[in-house]
Amino acid sequence: MSPQLSLSTRQLSETASLGPRNGVWSVYVHFPWCLKRCAYCDFATSVAIEIPRQAYLASVIKELEIRTAQLQPAPIATVFFGGGTPSLWGAAAVSQILHWLDRWGGLAADAEITLEANPGAAEVGDLQAYAHAGINRVSAGIQSLNAERLRWLDRVHDADQARATIERLAAMVGSGALRSASCDLIFGVPGQSLAELQADVDTVLATGIPHLSAYSLTVEPNTPLAQRVARQQVPAPDEELSATMLEALPAMVASAGLQRYEVSNFARAQHRSRHNWAYWTGAHYLAVGVGAHGFVPQDGSCGMRYGNRRSASAYMRALQGSRLAQEFTETIGPIEHYTELVMTGLRLAAGVNLHTLDQYAGAGAADRLRSSAAKTGLLGVELIETNGFMAVSPQAVLHLDRIVRAVA
Ligand SMILES: C[S@@+](CC[C@H](N)C(=O)[O-])C[C@H]1O[C@@H](n2cnc3c(N)ncnc32)[C@H](O)[C@@H]1O
Ligand code: SF4
Repeated sequence: MSPQLSLSTRQLSETASLGPRNGVWSVYVHFPWCLKRCAYCDFATSVAIEIPRQAYLASVIKELEIRTAQLQPAPIATVFFGGGTPSLWGAAAVSQILHWLDRWGGLAADAEITLEANPGAAEVGDLQAYAHAGINRVSAGIQSLNAERLRWLDRVHDADQARATIERLAAMVGSGALRSASCDLIFGVPGQSLAELQADVDTVLATGIPHLSAYSLTVEPNTPLAQRVARQQVPAPDEELSATMLEALPAMVASAGLQRYEVSNFARAQHRSRHNWAYWTGAHYLAVGVGAHGFVPQDGSCGMRYGNRRSASAYMRALQGSRLAQEFTETIGPIEHYTELVMTGLRLAAGVNLHTLDQYAGAGAADRLRSSAAKTGLLGVELIETNGFMAVSPQAVLHLDRIVRAVA
């Protein structure tokens, strides 16, 4: 067992008190249970006959106590309840965590507080209760509005439930009960056409939903989908069609007033995900719960990344004994941080902020990117510097992986 696996609150509080680099915290809270496992999913989640909601809440609060003992309280700008299916936790649990965070650092007056909610696992009354508990943004896992595609993905919901959730969320944004809402779609599912994706996008956006995340279906190792593909029971996603869809998405969302601001994310003005923005731009953030990954300040380095164990029972056992259930920690030095900031920054339409690159990864980092960027002409694509940002042209989105490999 490595030493950090058994750090107690007392030991941690003896270390220096460290604040987030931009003066505010973002907090991720993971909820690791779902009603059903989707064939393609590799996230830290499982299905339980009975979800131990209260015991898990106690463990998450204990983890917050241990981790914050060595951190400096600061206003909390964003909170994200992700999963799994956190809309199965109940509004009372969410409320208790928000109260705890408010007492610690204080929730900022304009804090963005997001809950991932799935059709079939968040009824109308639940969504209202979550809004009363403090949730002001909901991200719904719609994935598709086609019955066949939903079955293929092993989703627990059907198309009618998906439509009802979208309409409910749009109404809540319209009435001011929520500040914002987002829908997730998956594209590149075998059998899906470009016209079907456009129809799904149109149905979601016609309701007034101001944010869309669209992910290309990935066959993750050791998932039921990977097995089905390996046994040739189902075809693999068609990479060419997925690429066409990725390229077509900005035009698909434009008439509803959304713009691509990150490769997989599209929003109207004022509706970008501030929480994800914090991840992509190198902010420090706290993460708690099964399998959660955080990035916190650390003396003498750019920060420390850590990841929690992915087993819910191992996680709760450790926290019941007042120990962290940490699987790894990694000190992030300027070289690693440069790579991370360039990788995530080039996925943003705005590009990499060269000023913060120097600030976070050390003086000279921006010049290093400039000189690597000068060589990307050889790849047939260009990186463009405008007003202190280095960005990939929108037309080069399909070459992003190659560009990132060349310069990060
Ligand atoms: C892990 S889920 C959590 C939220 C919620 N449970 C749901 O299913 O929407 C977050 C997002 O990742 C997507 N996702 C997970 N595995 C994926 C994969 N292999 N390919 C593409 N998208 C994936 C989900 O479909 C969802 O939109
Ligand atoms: S509902 Fe979401 S988190 Fe749960 S298995 Fe499906 S994709 Fe994964």
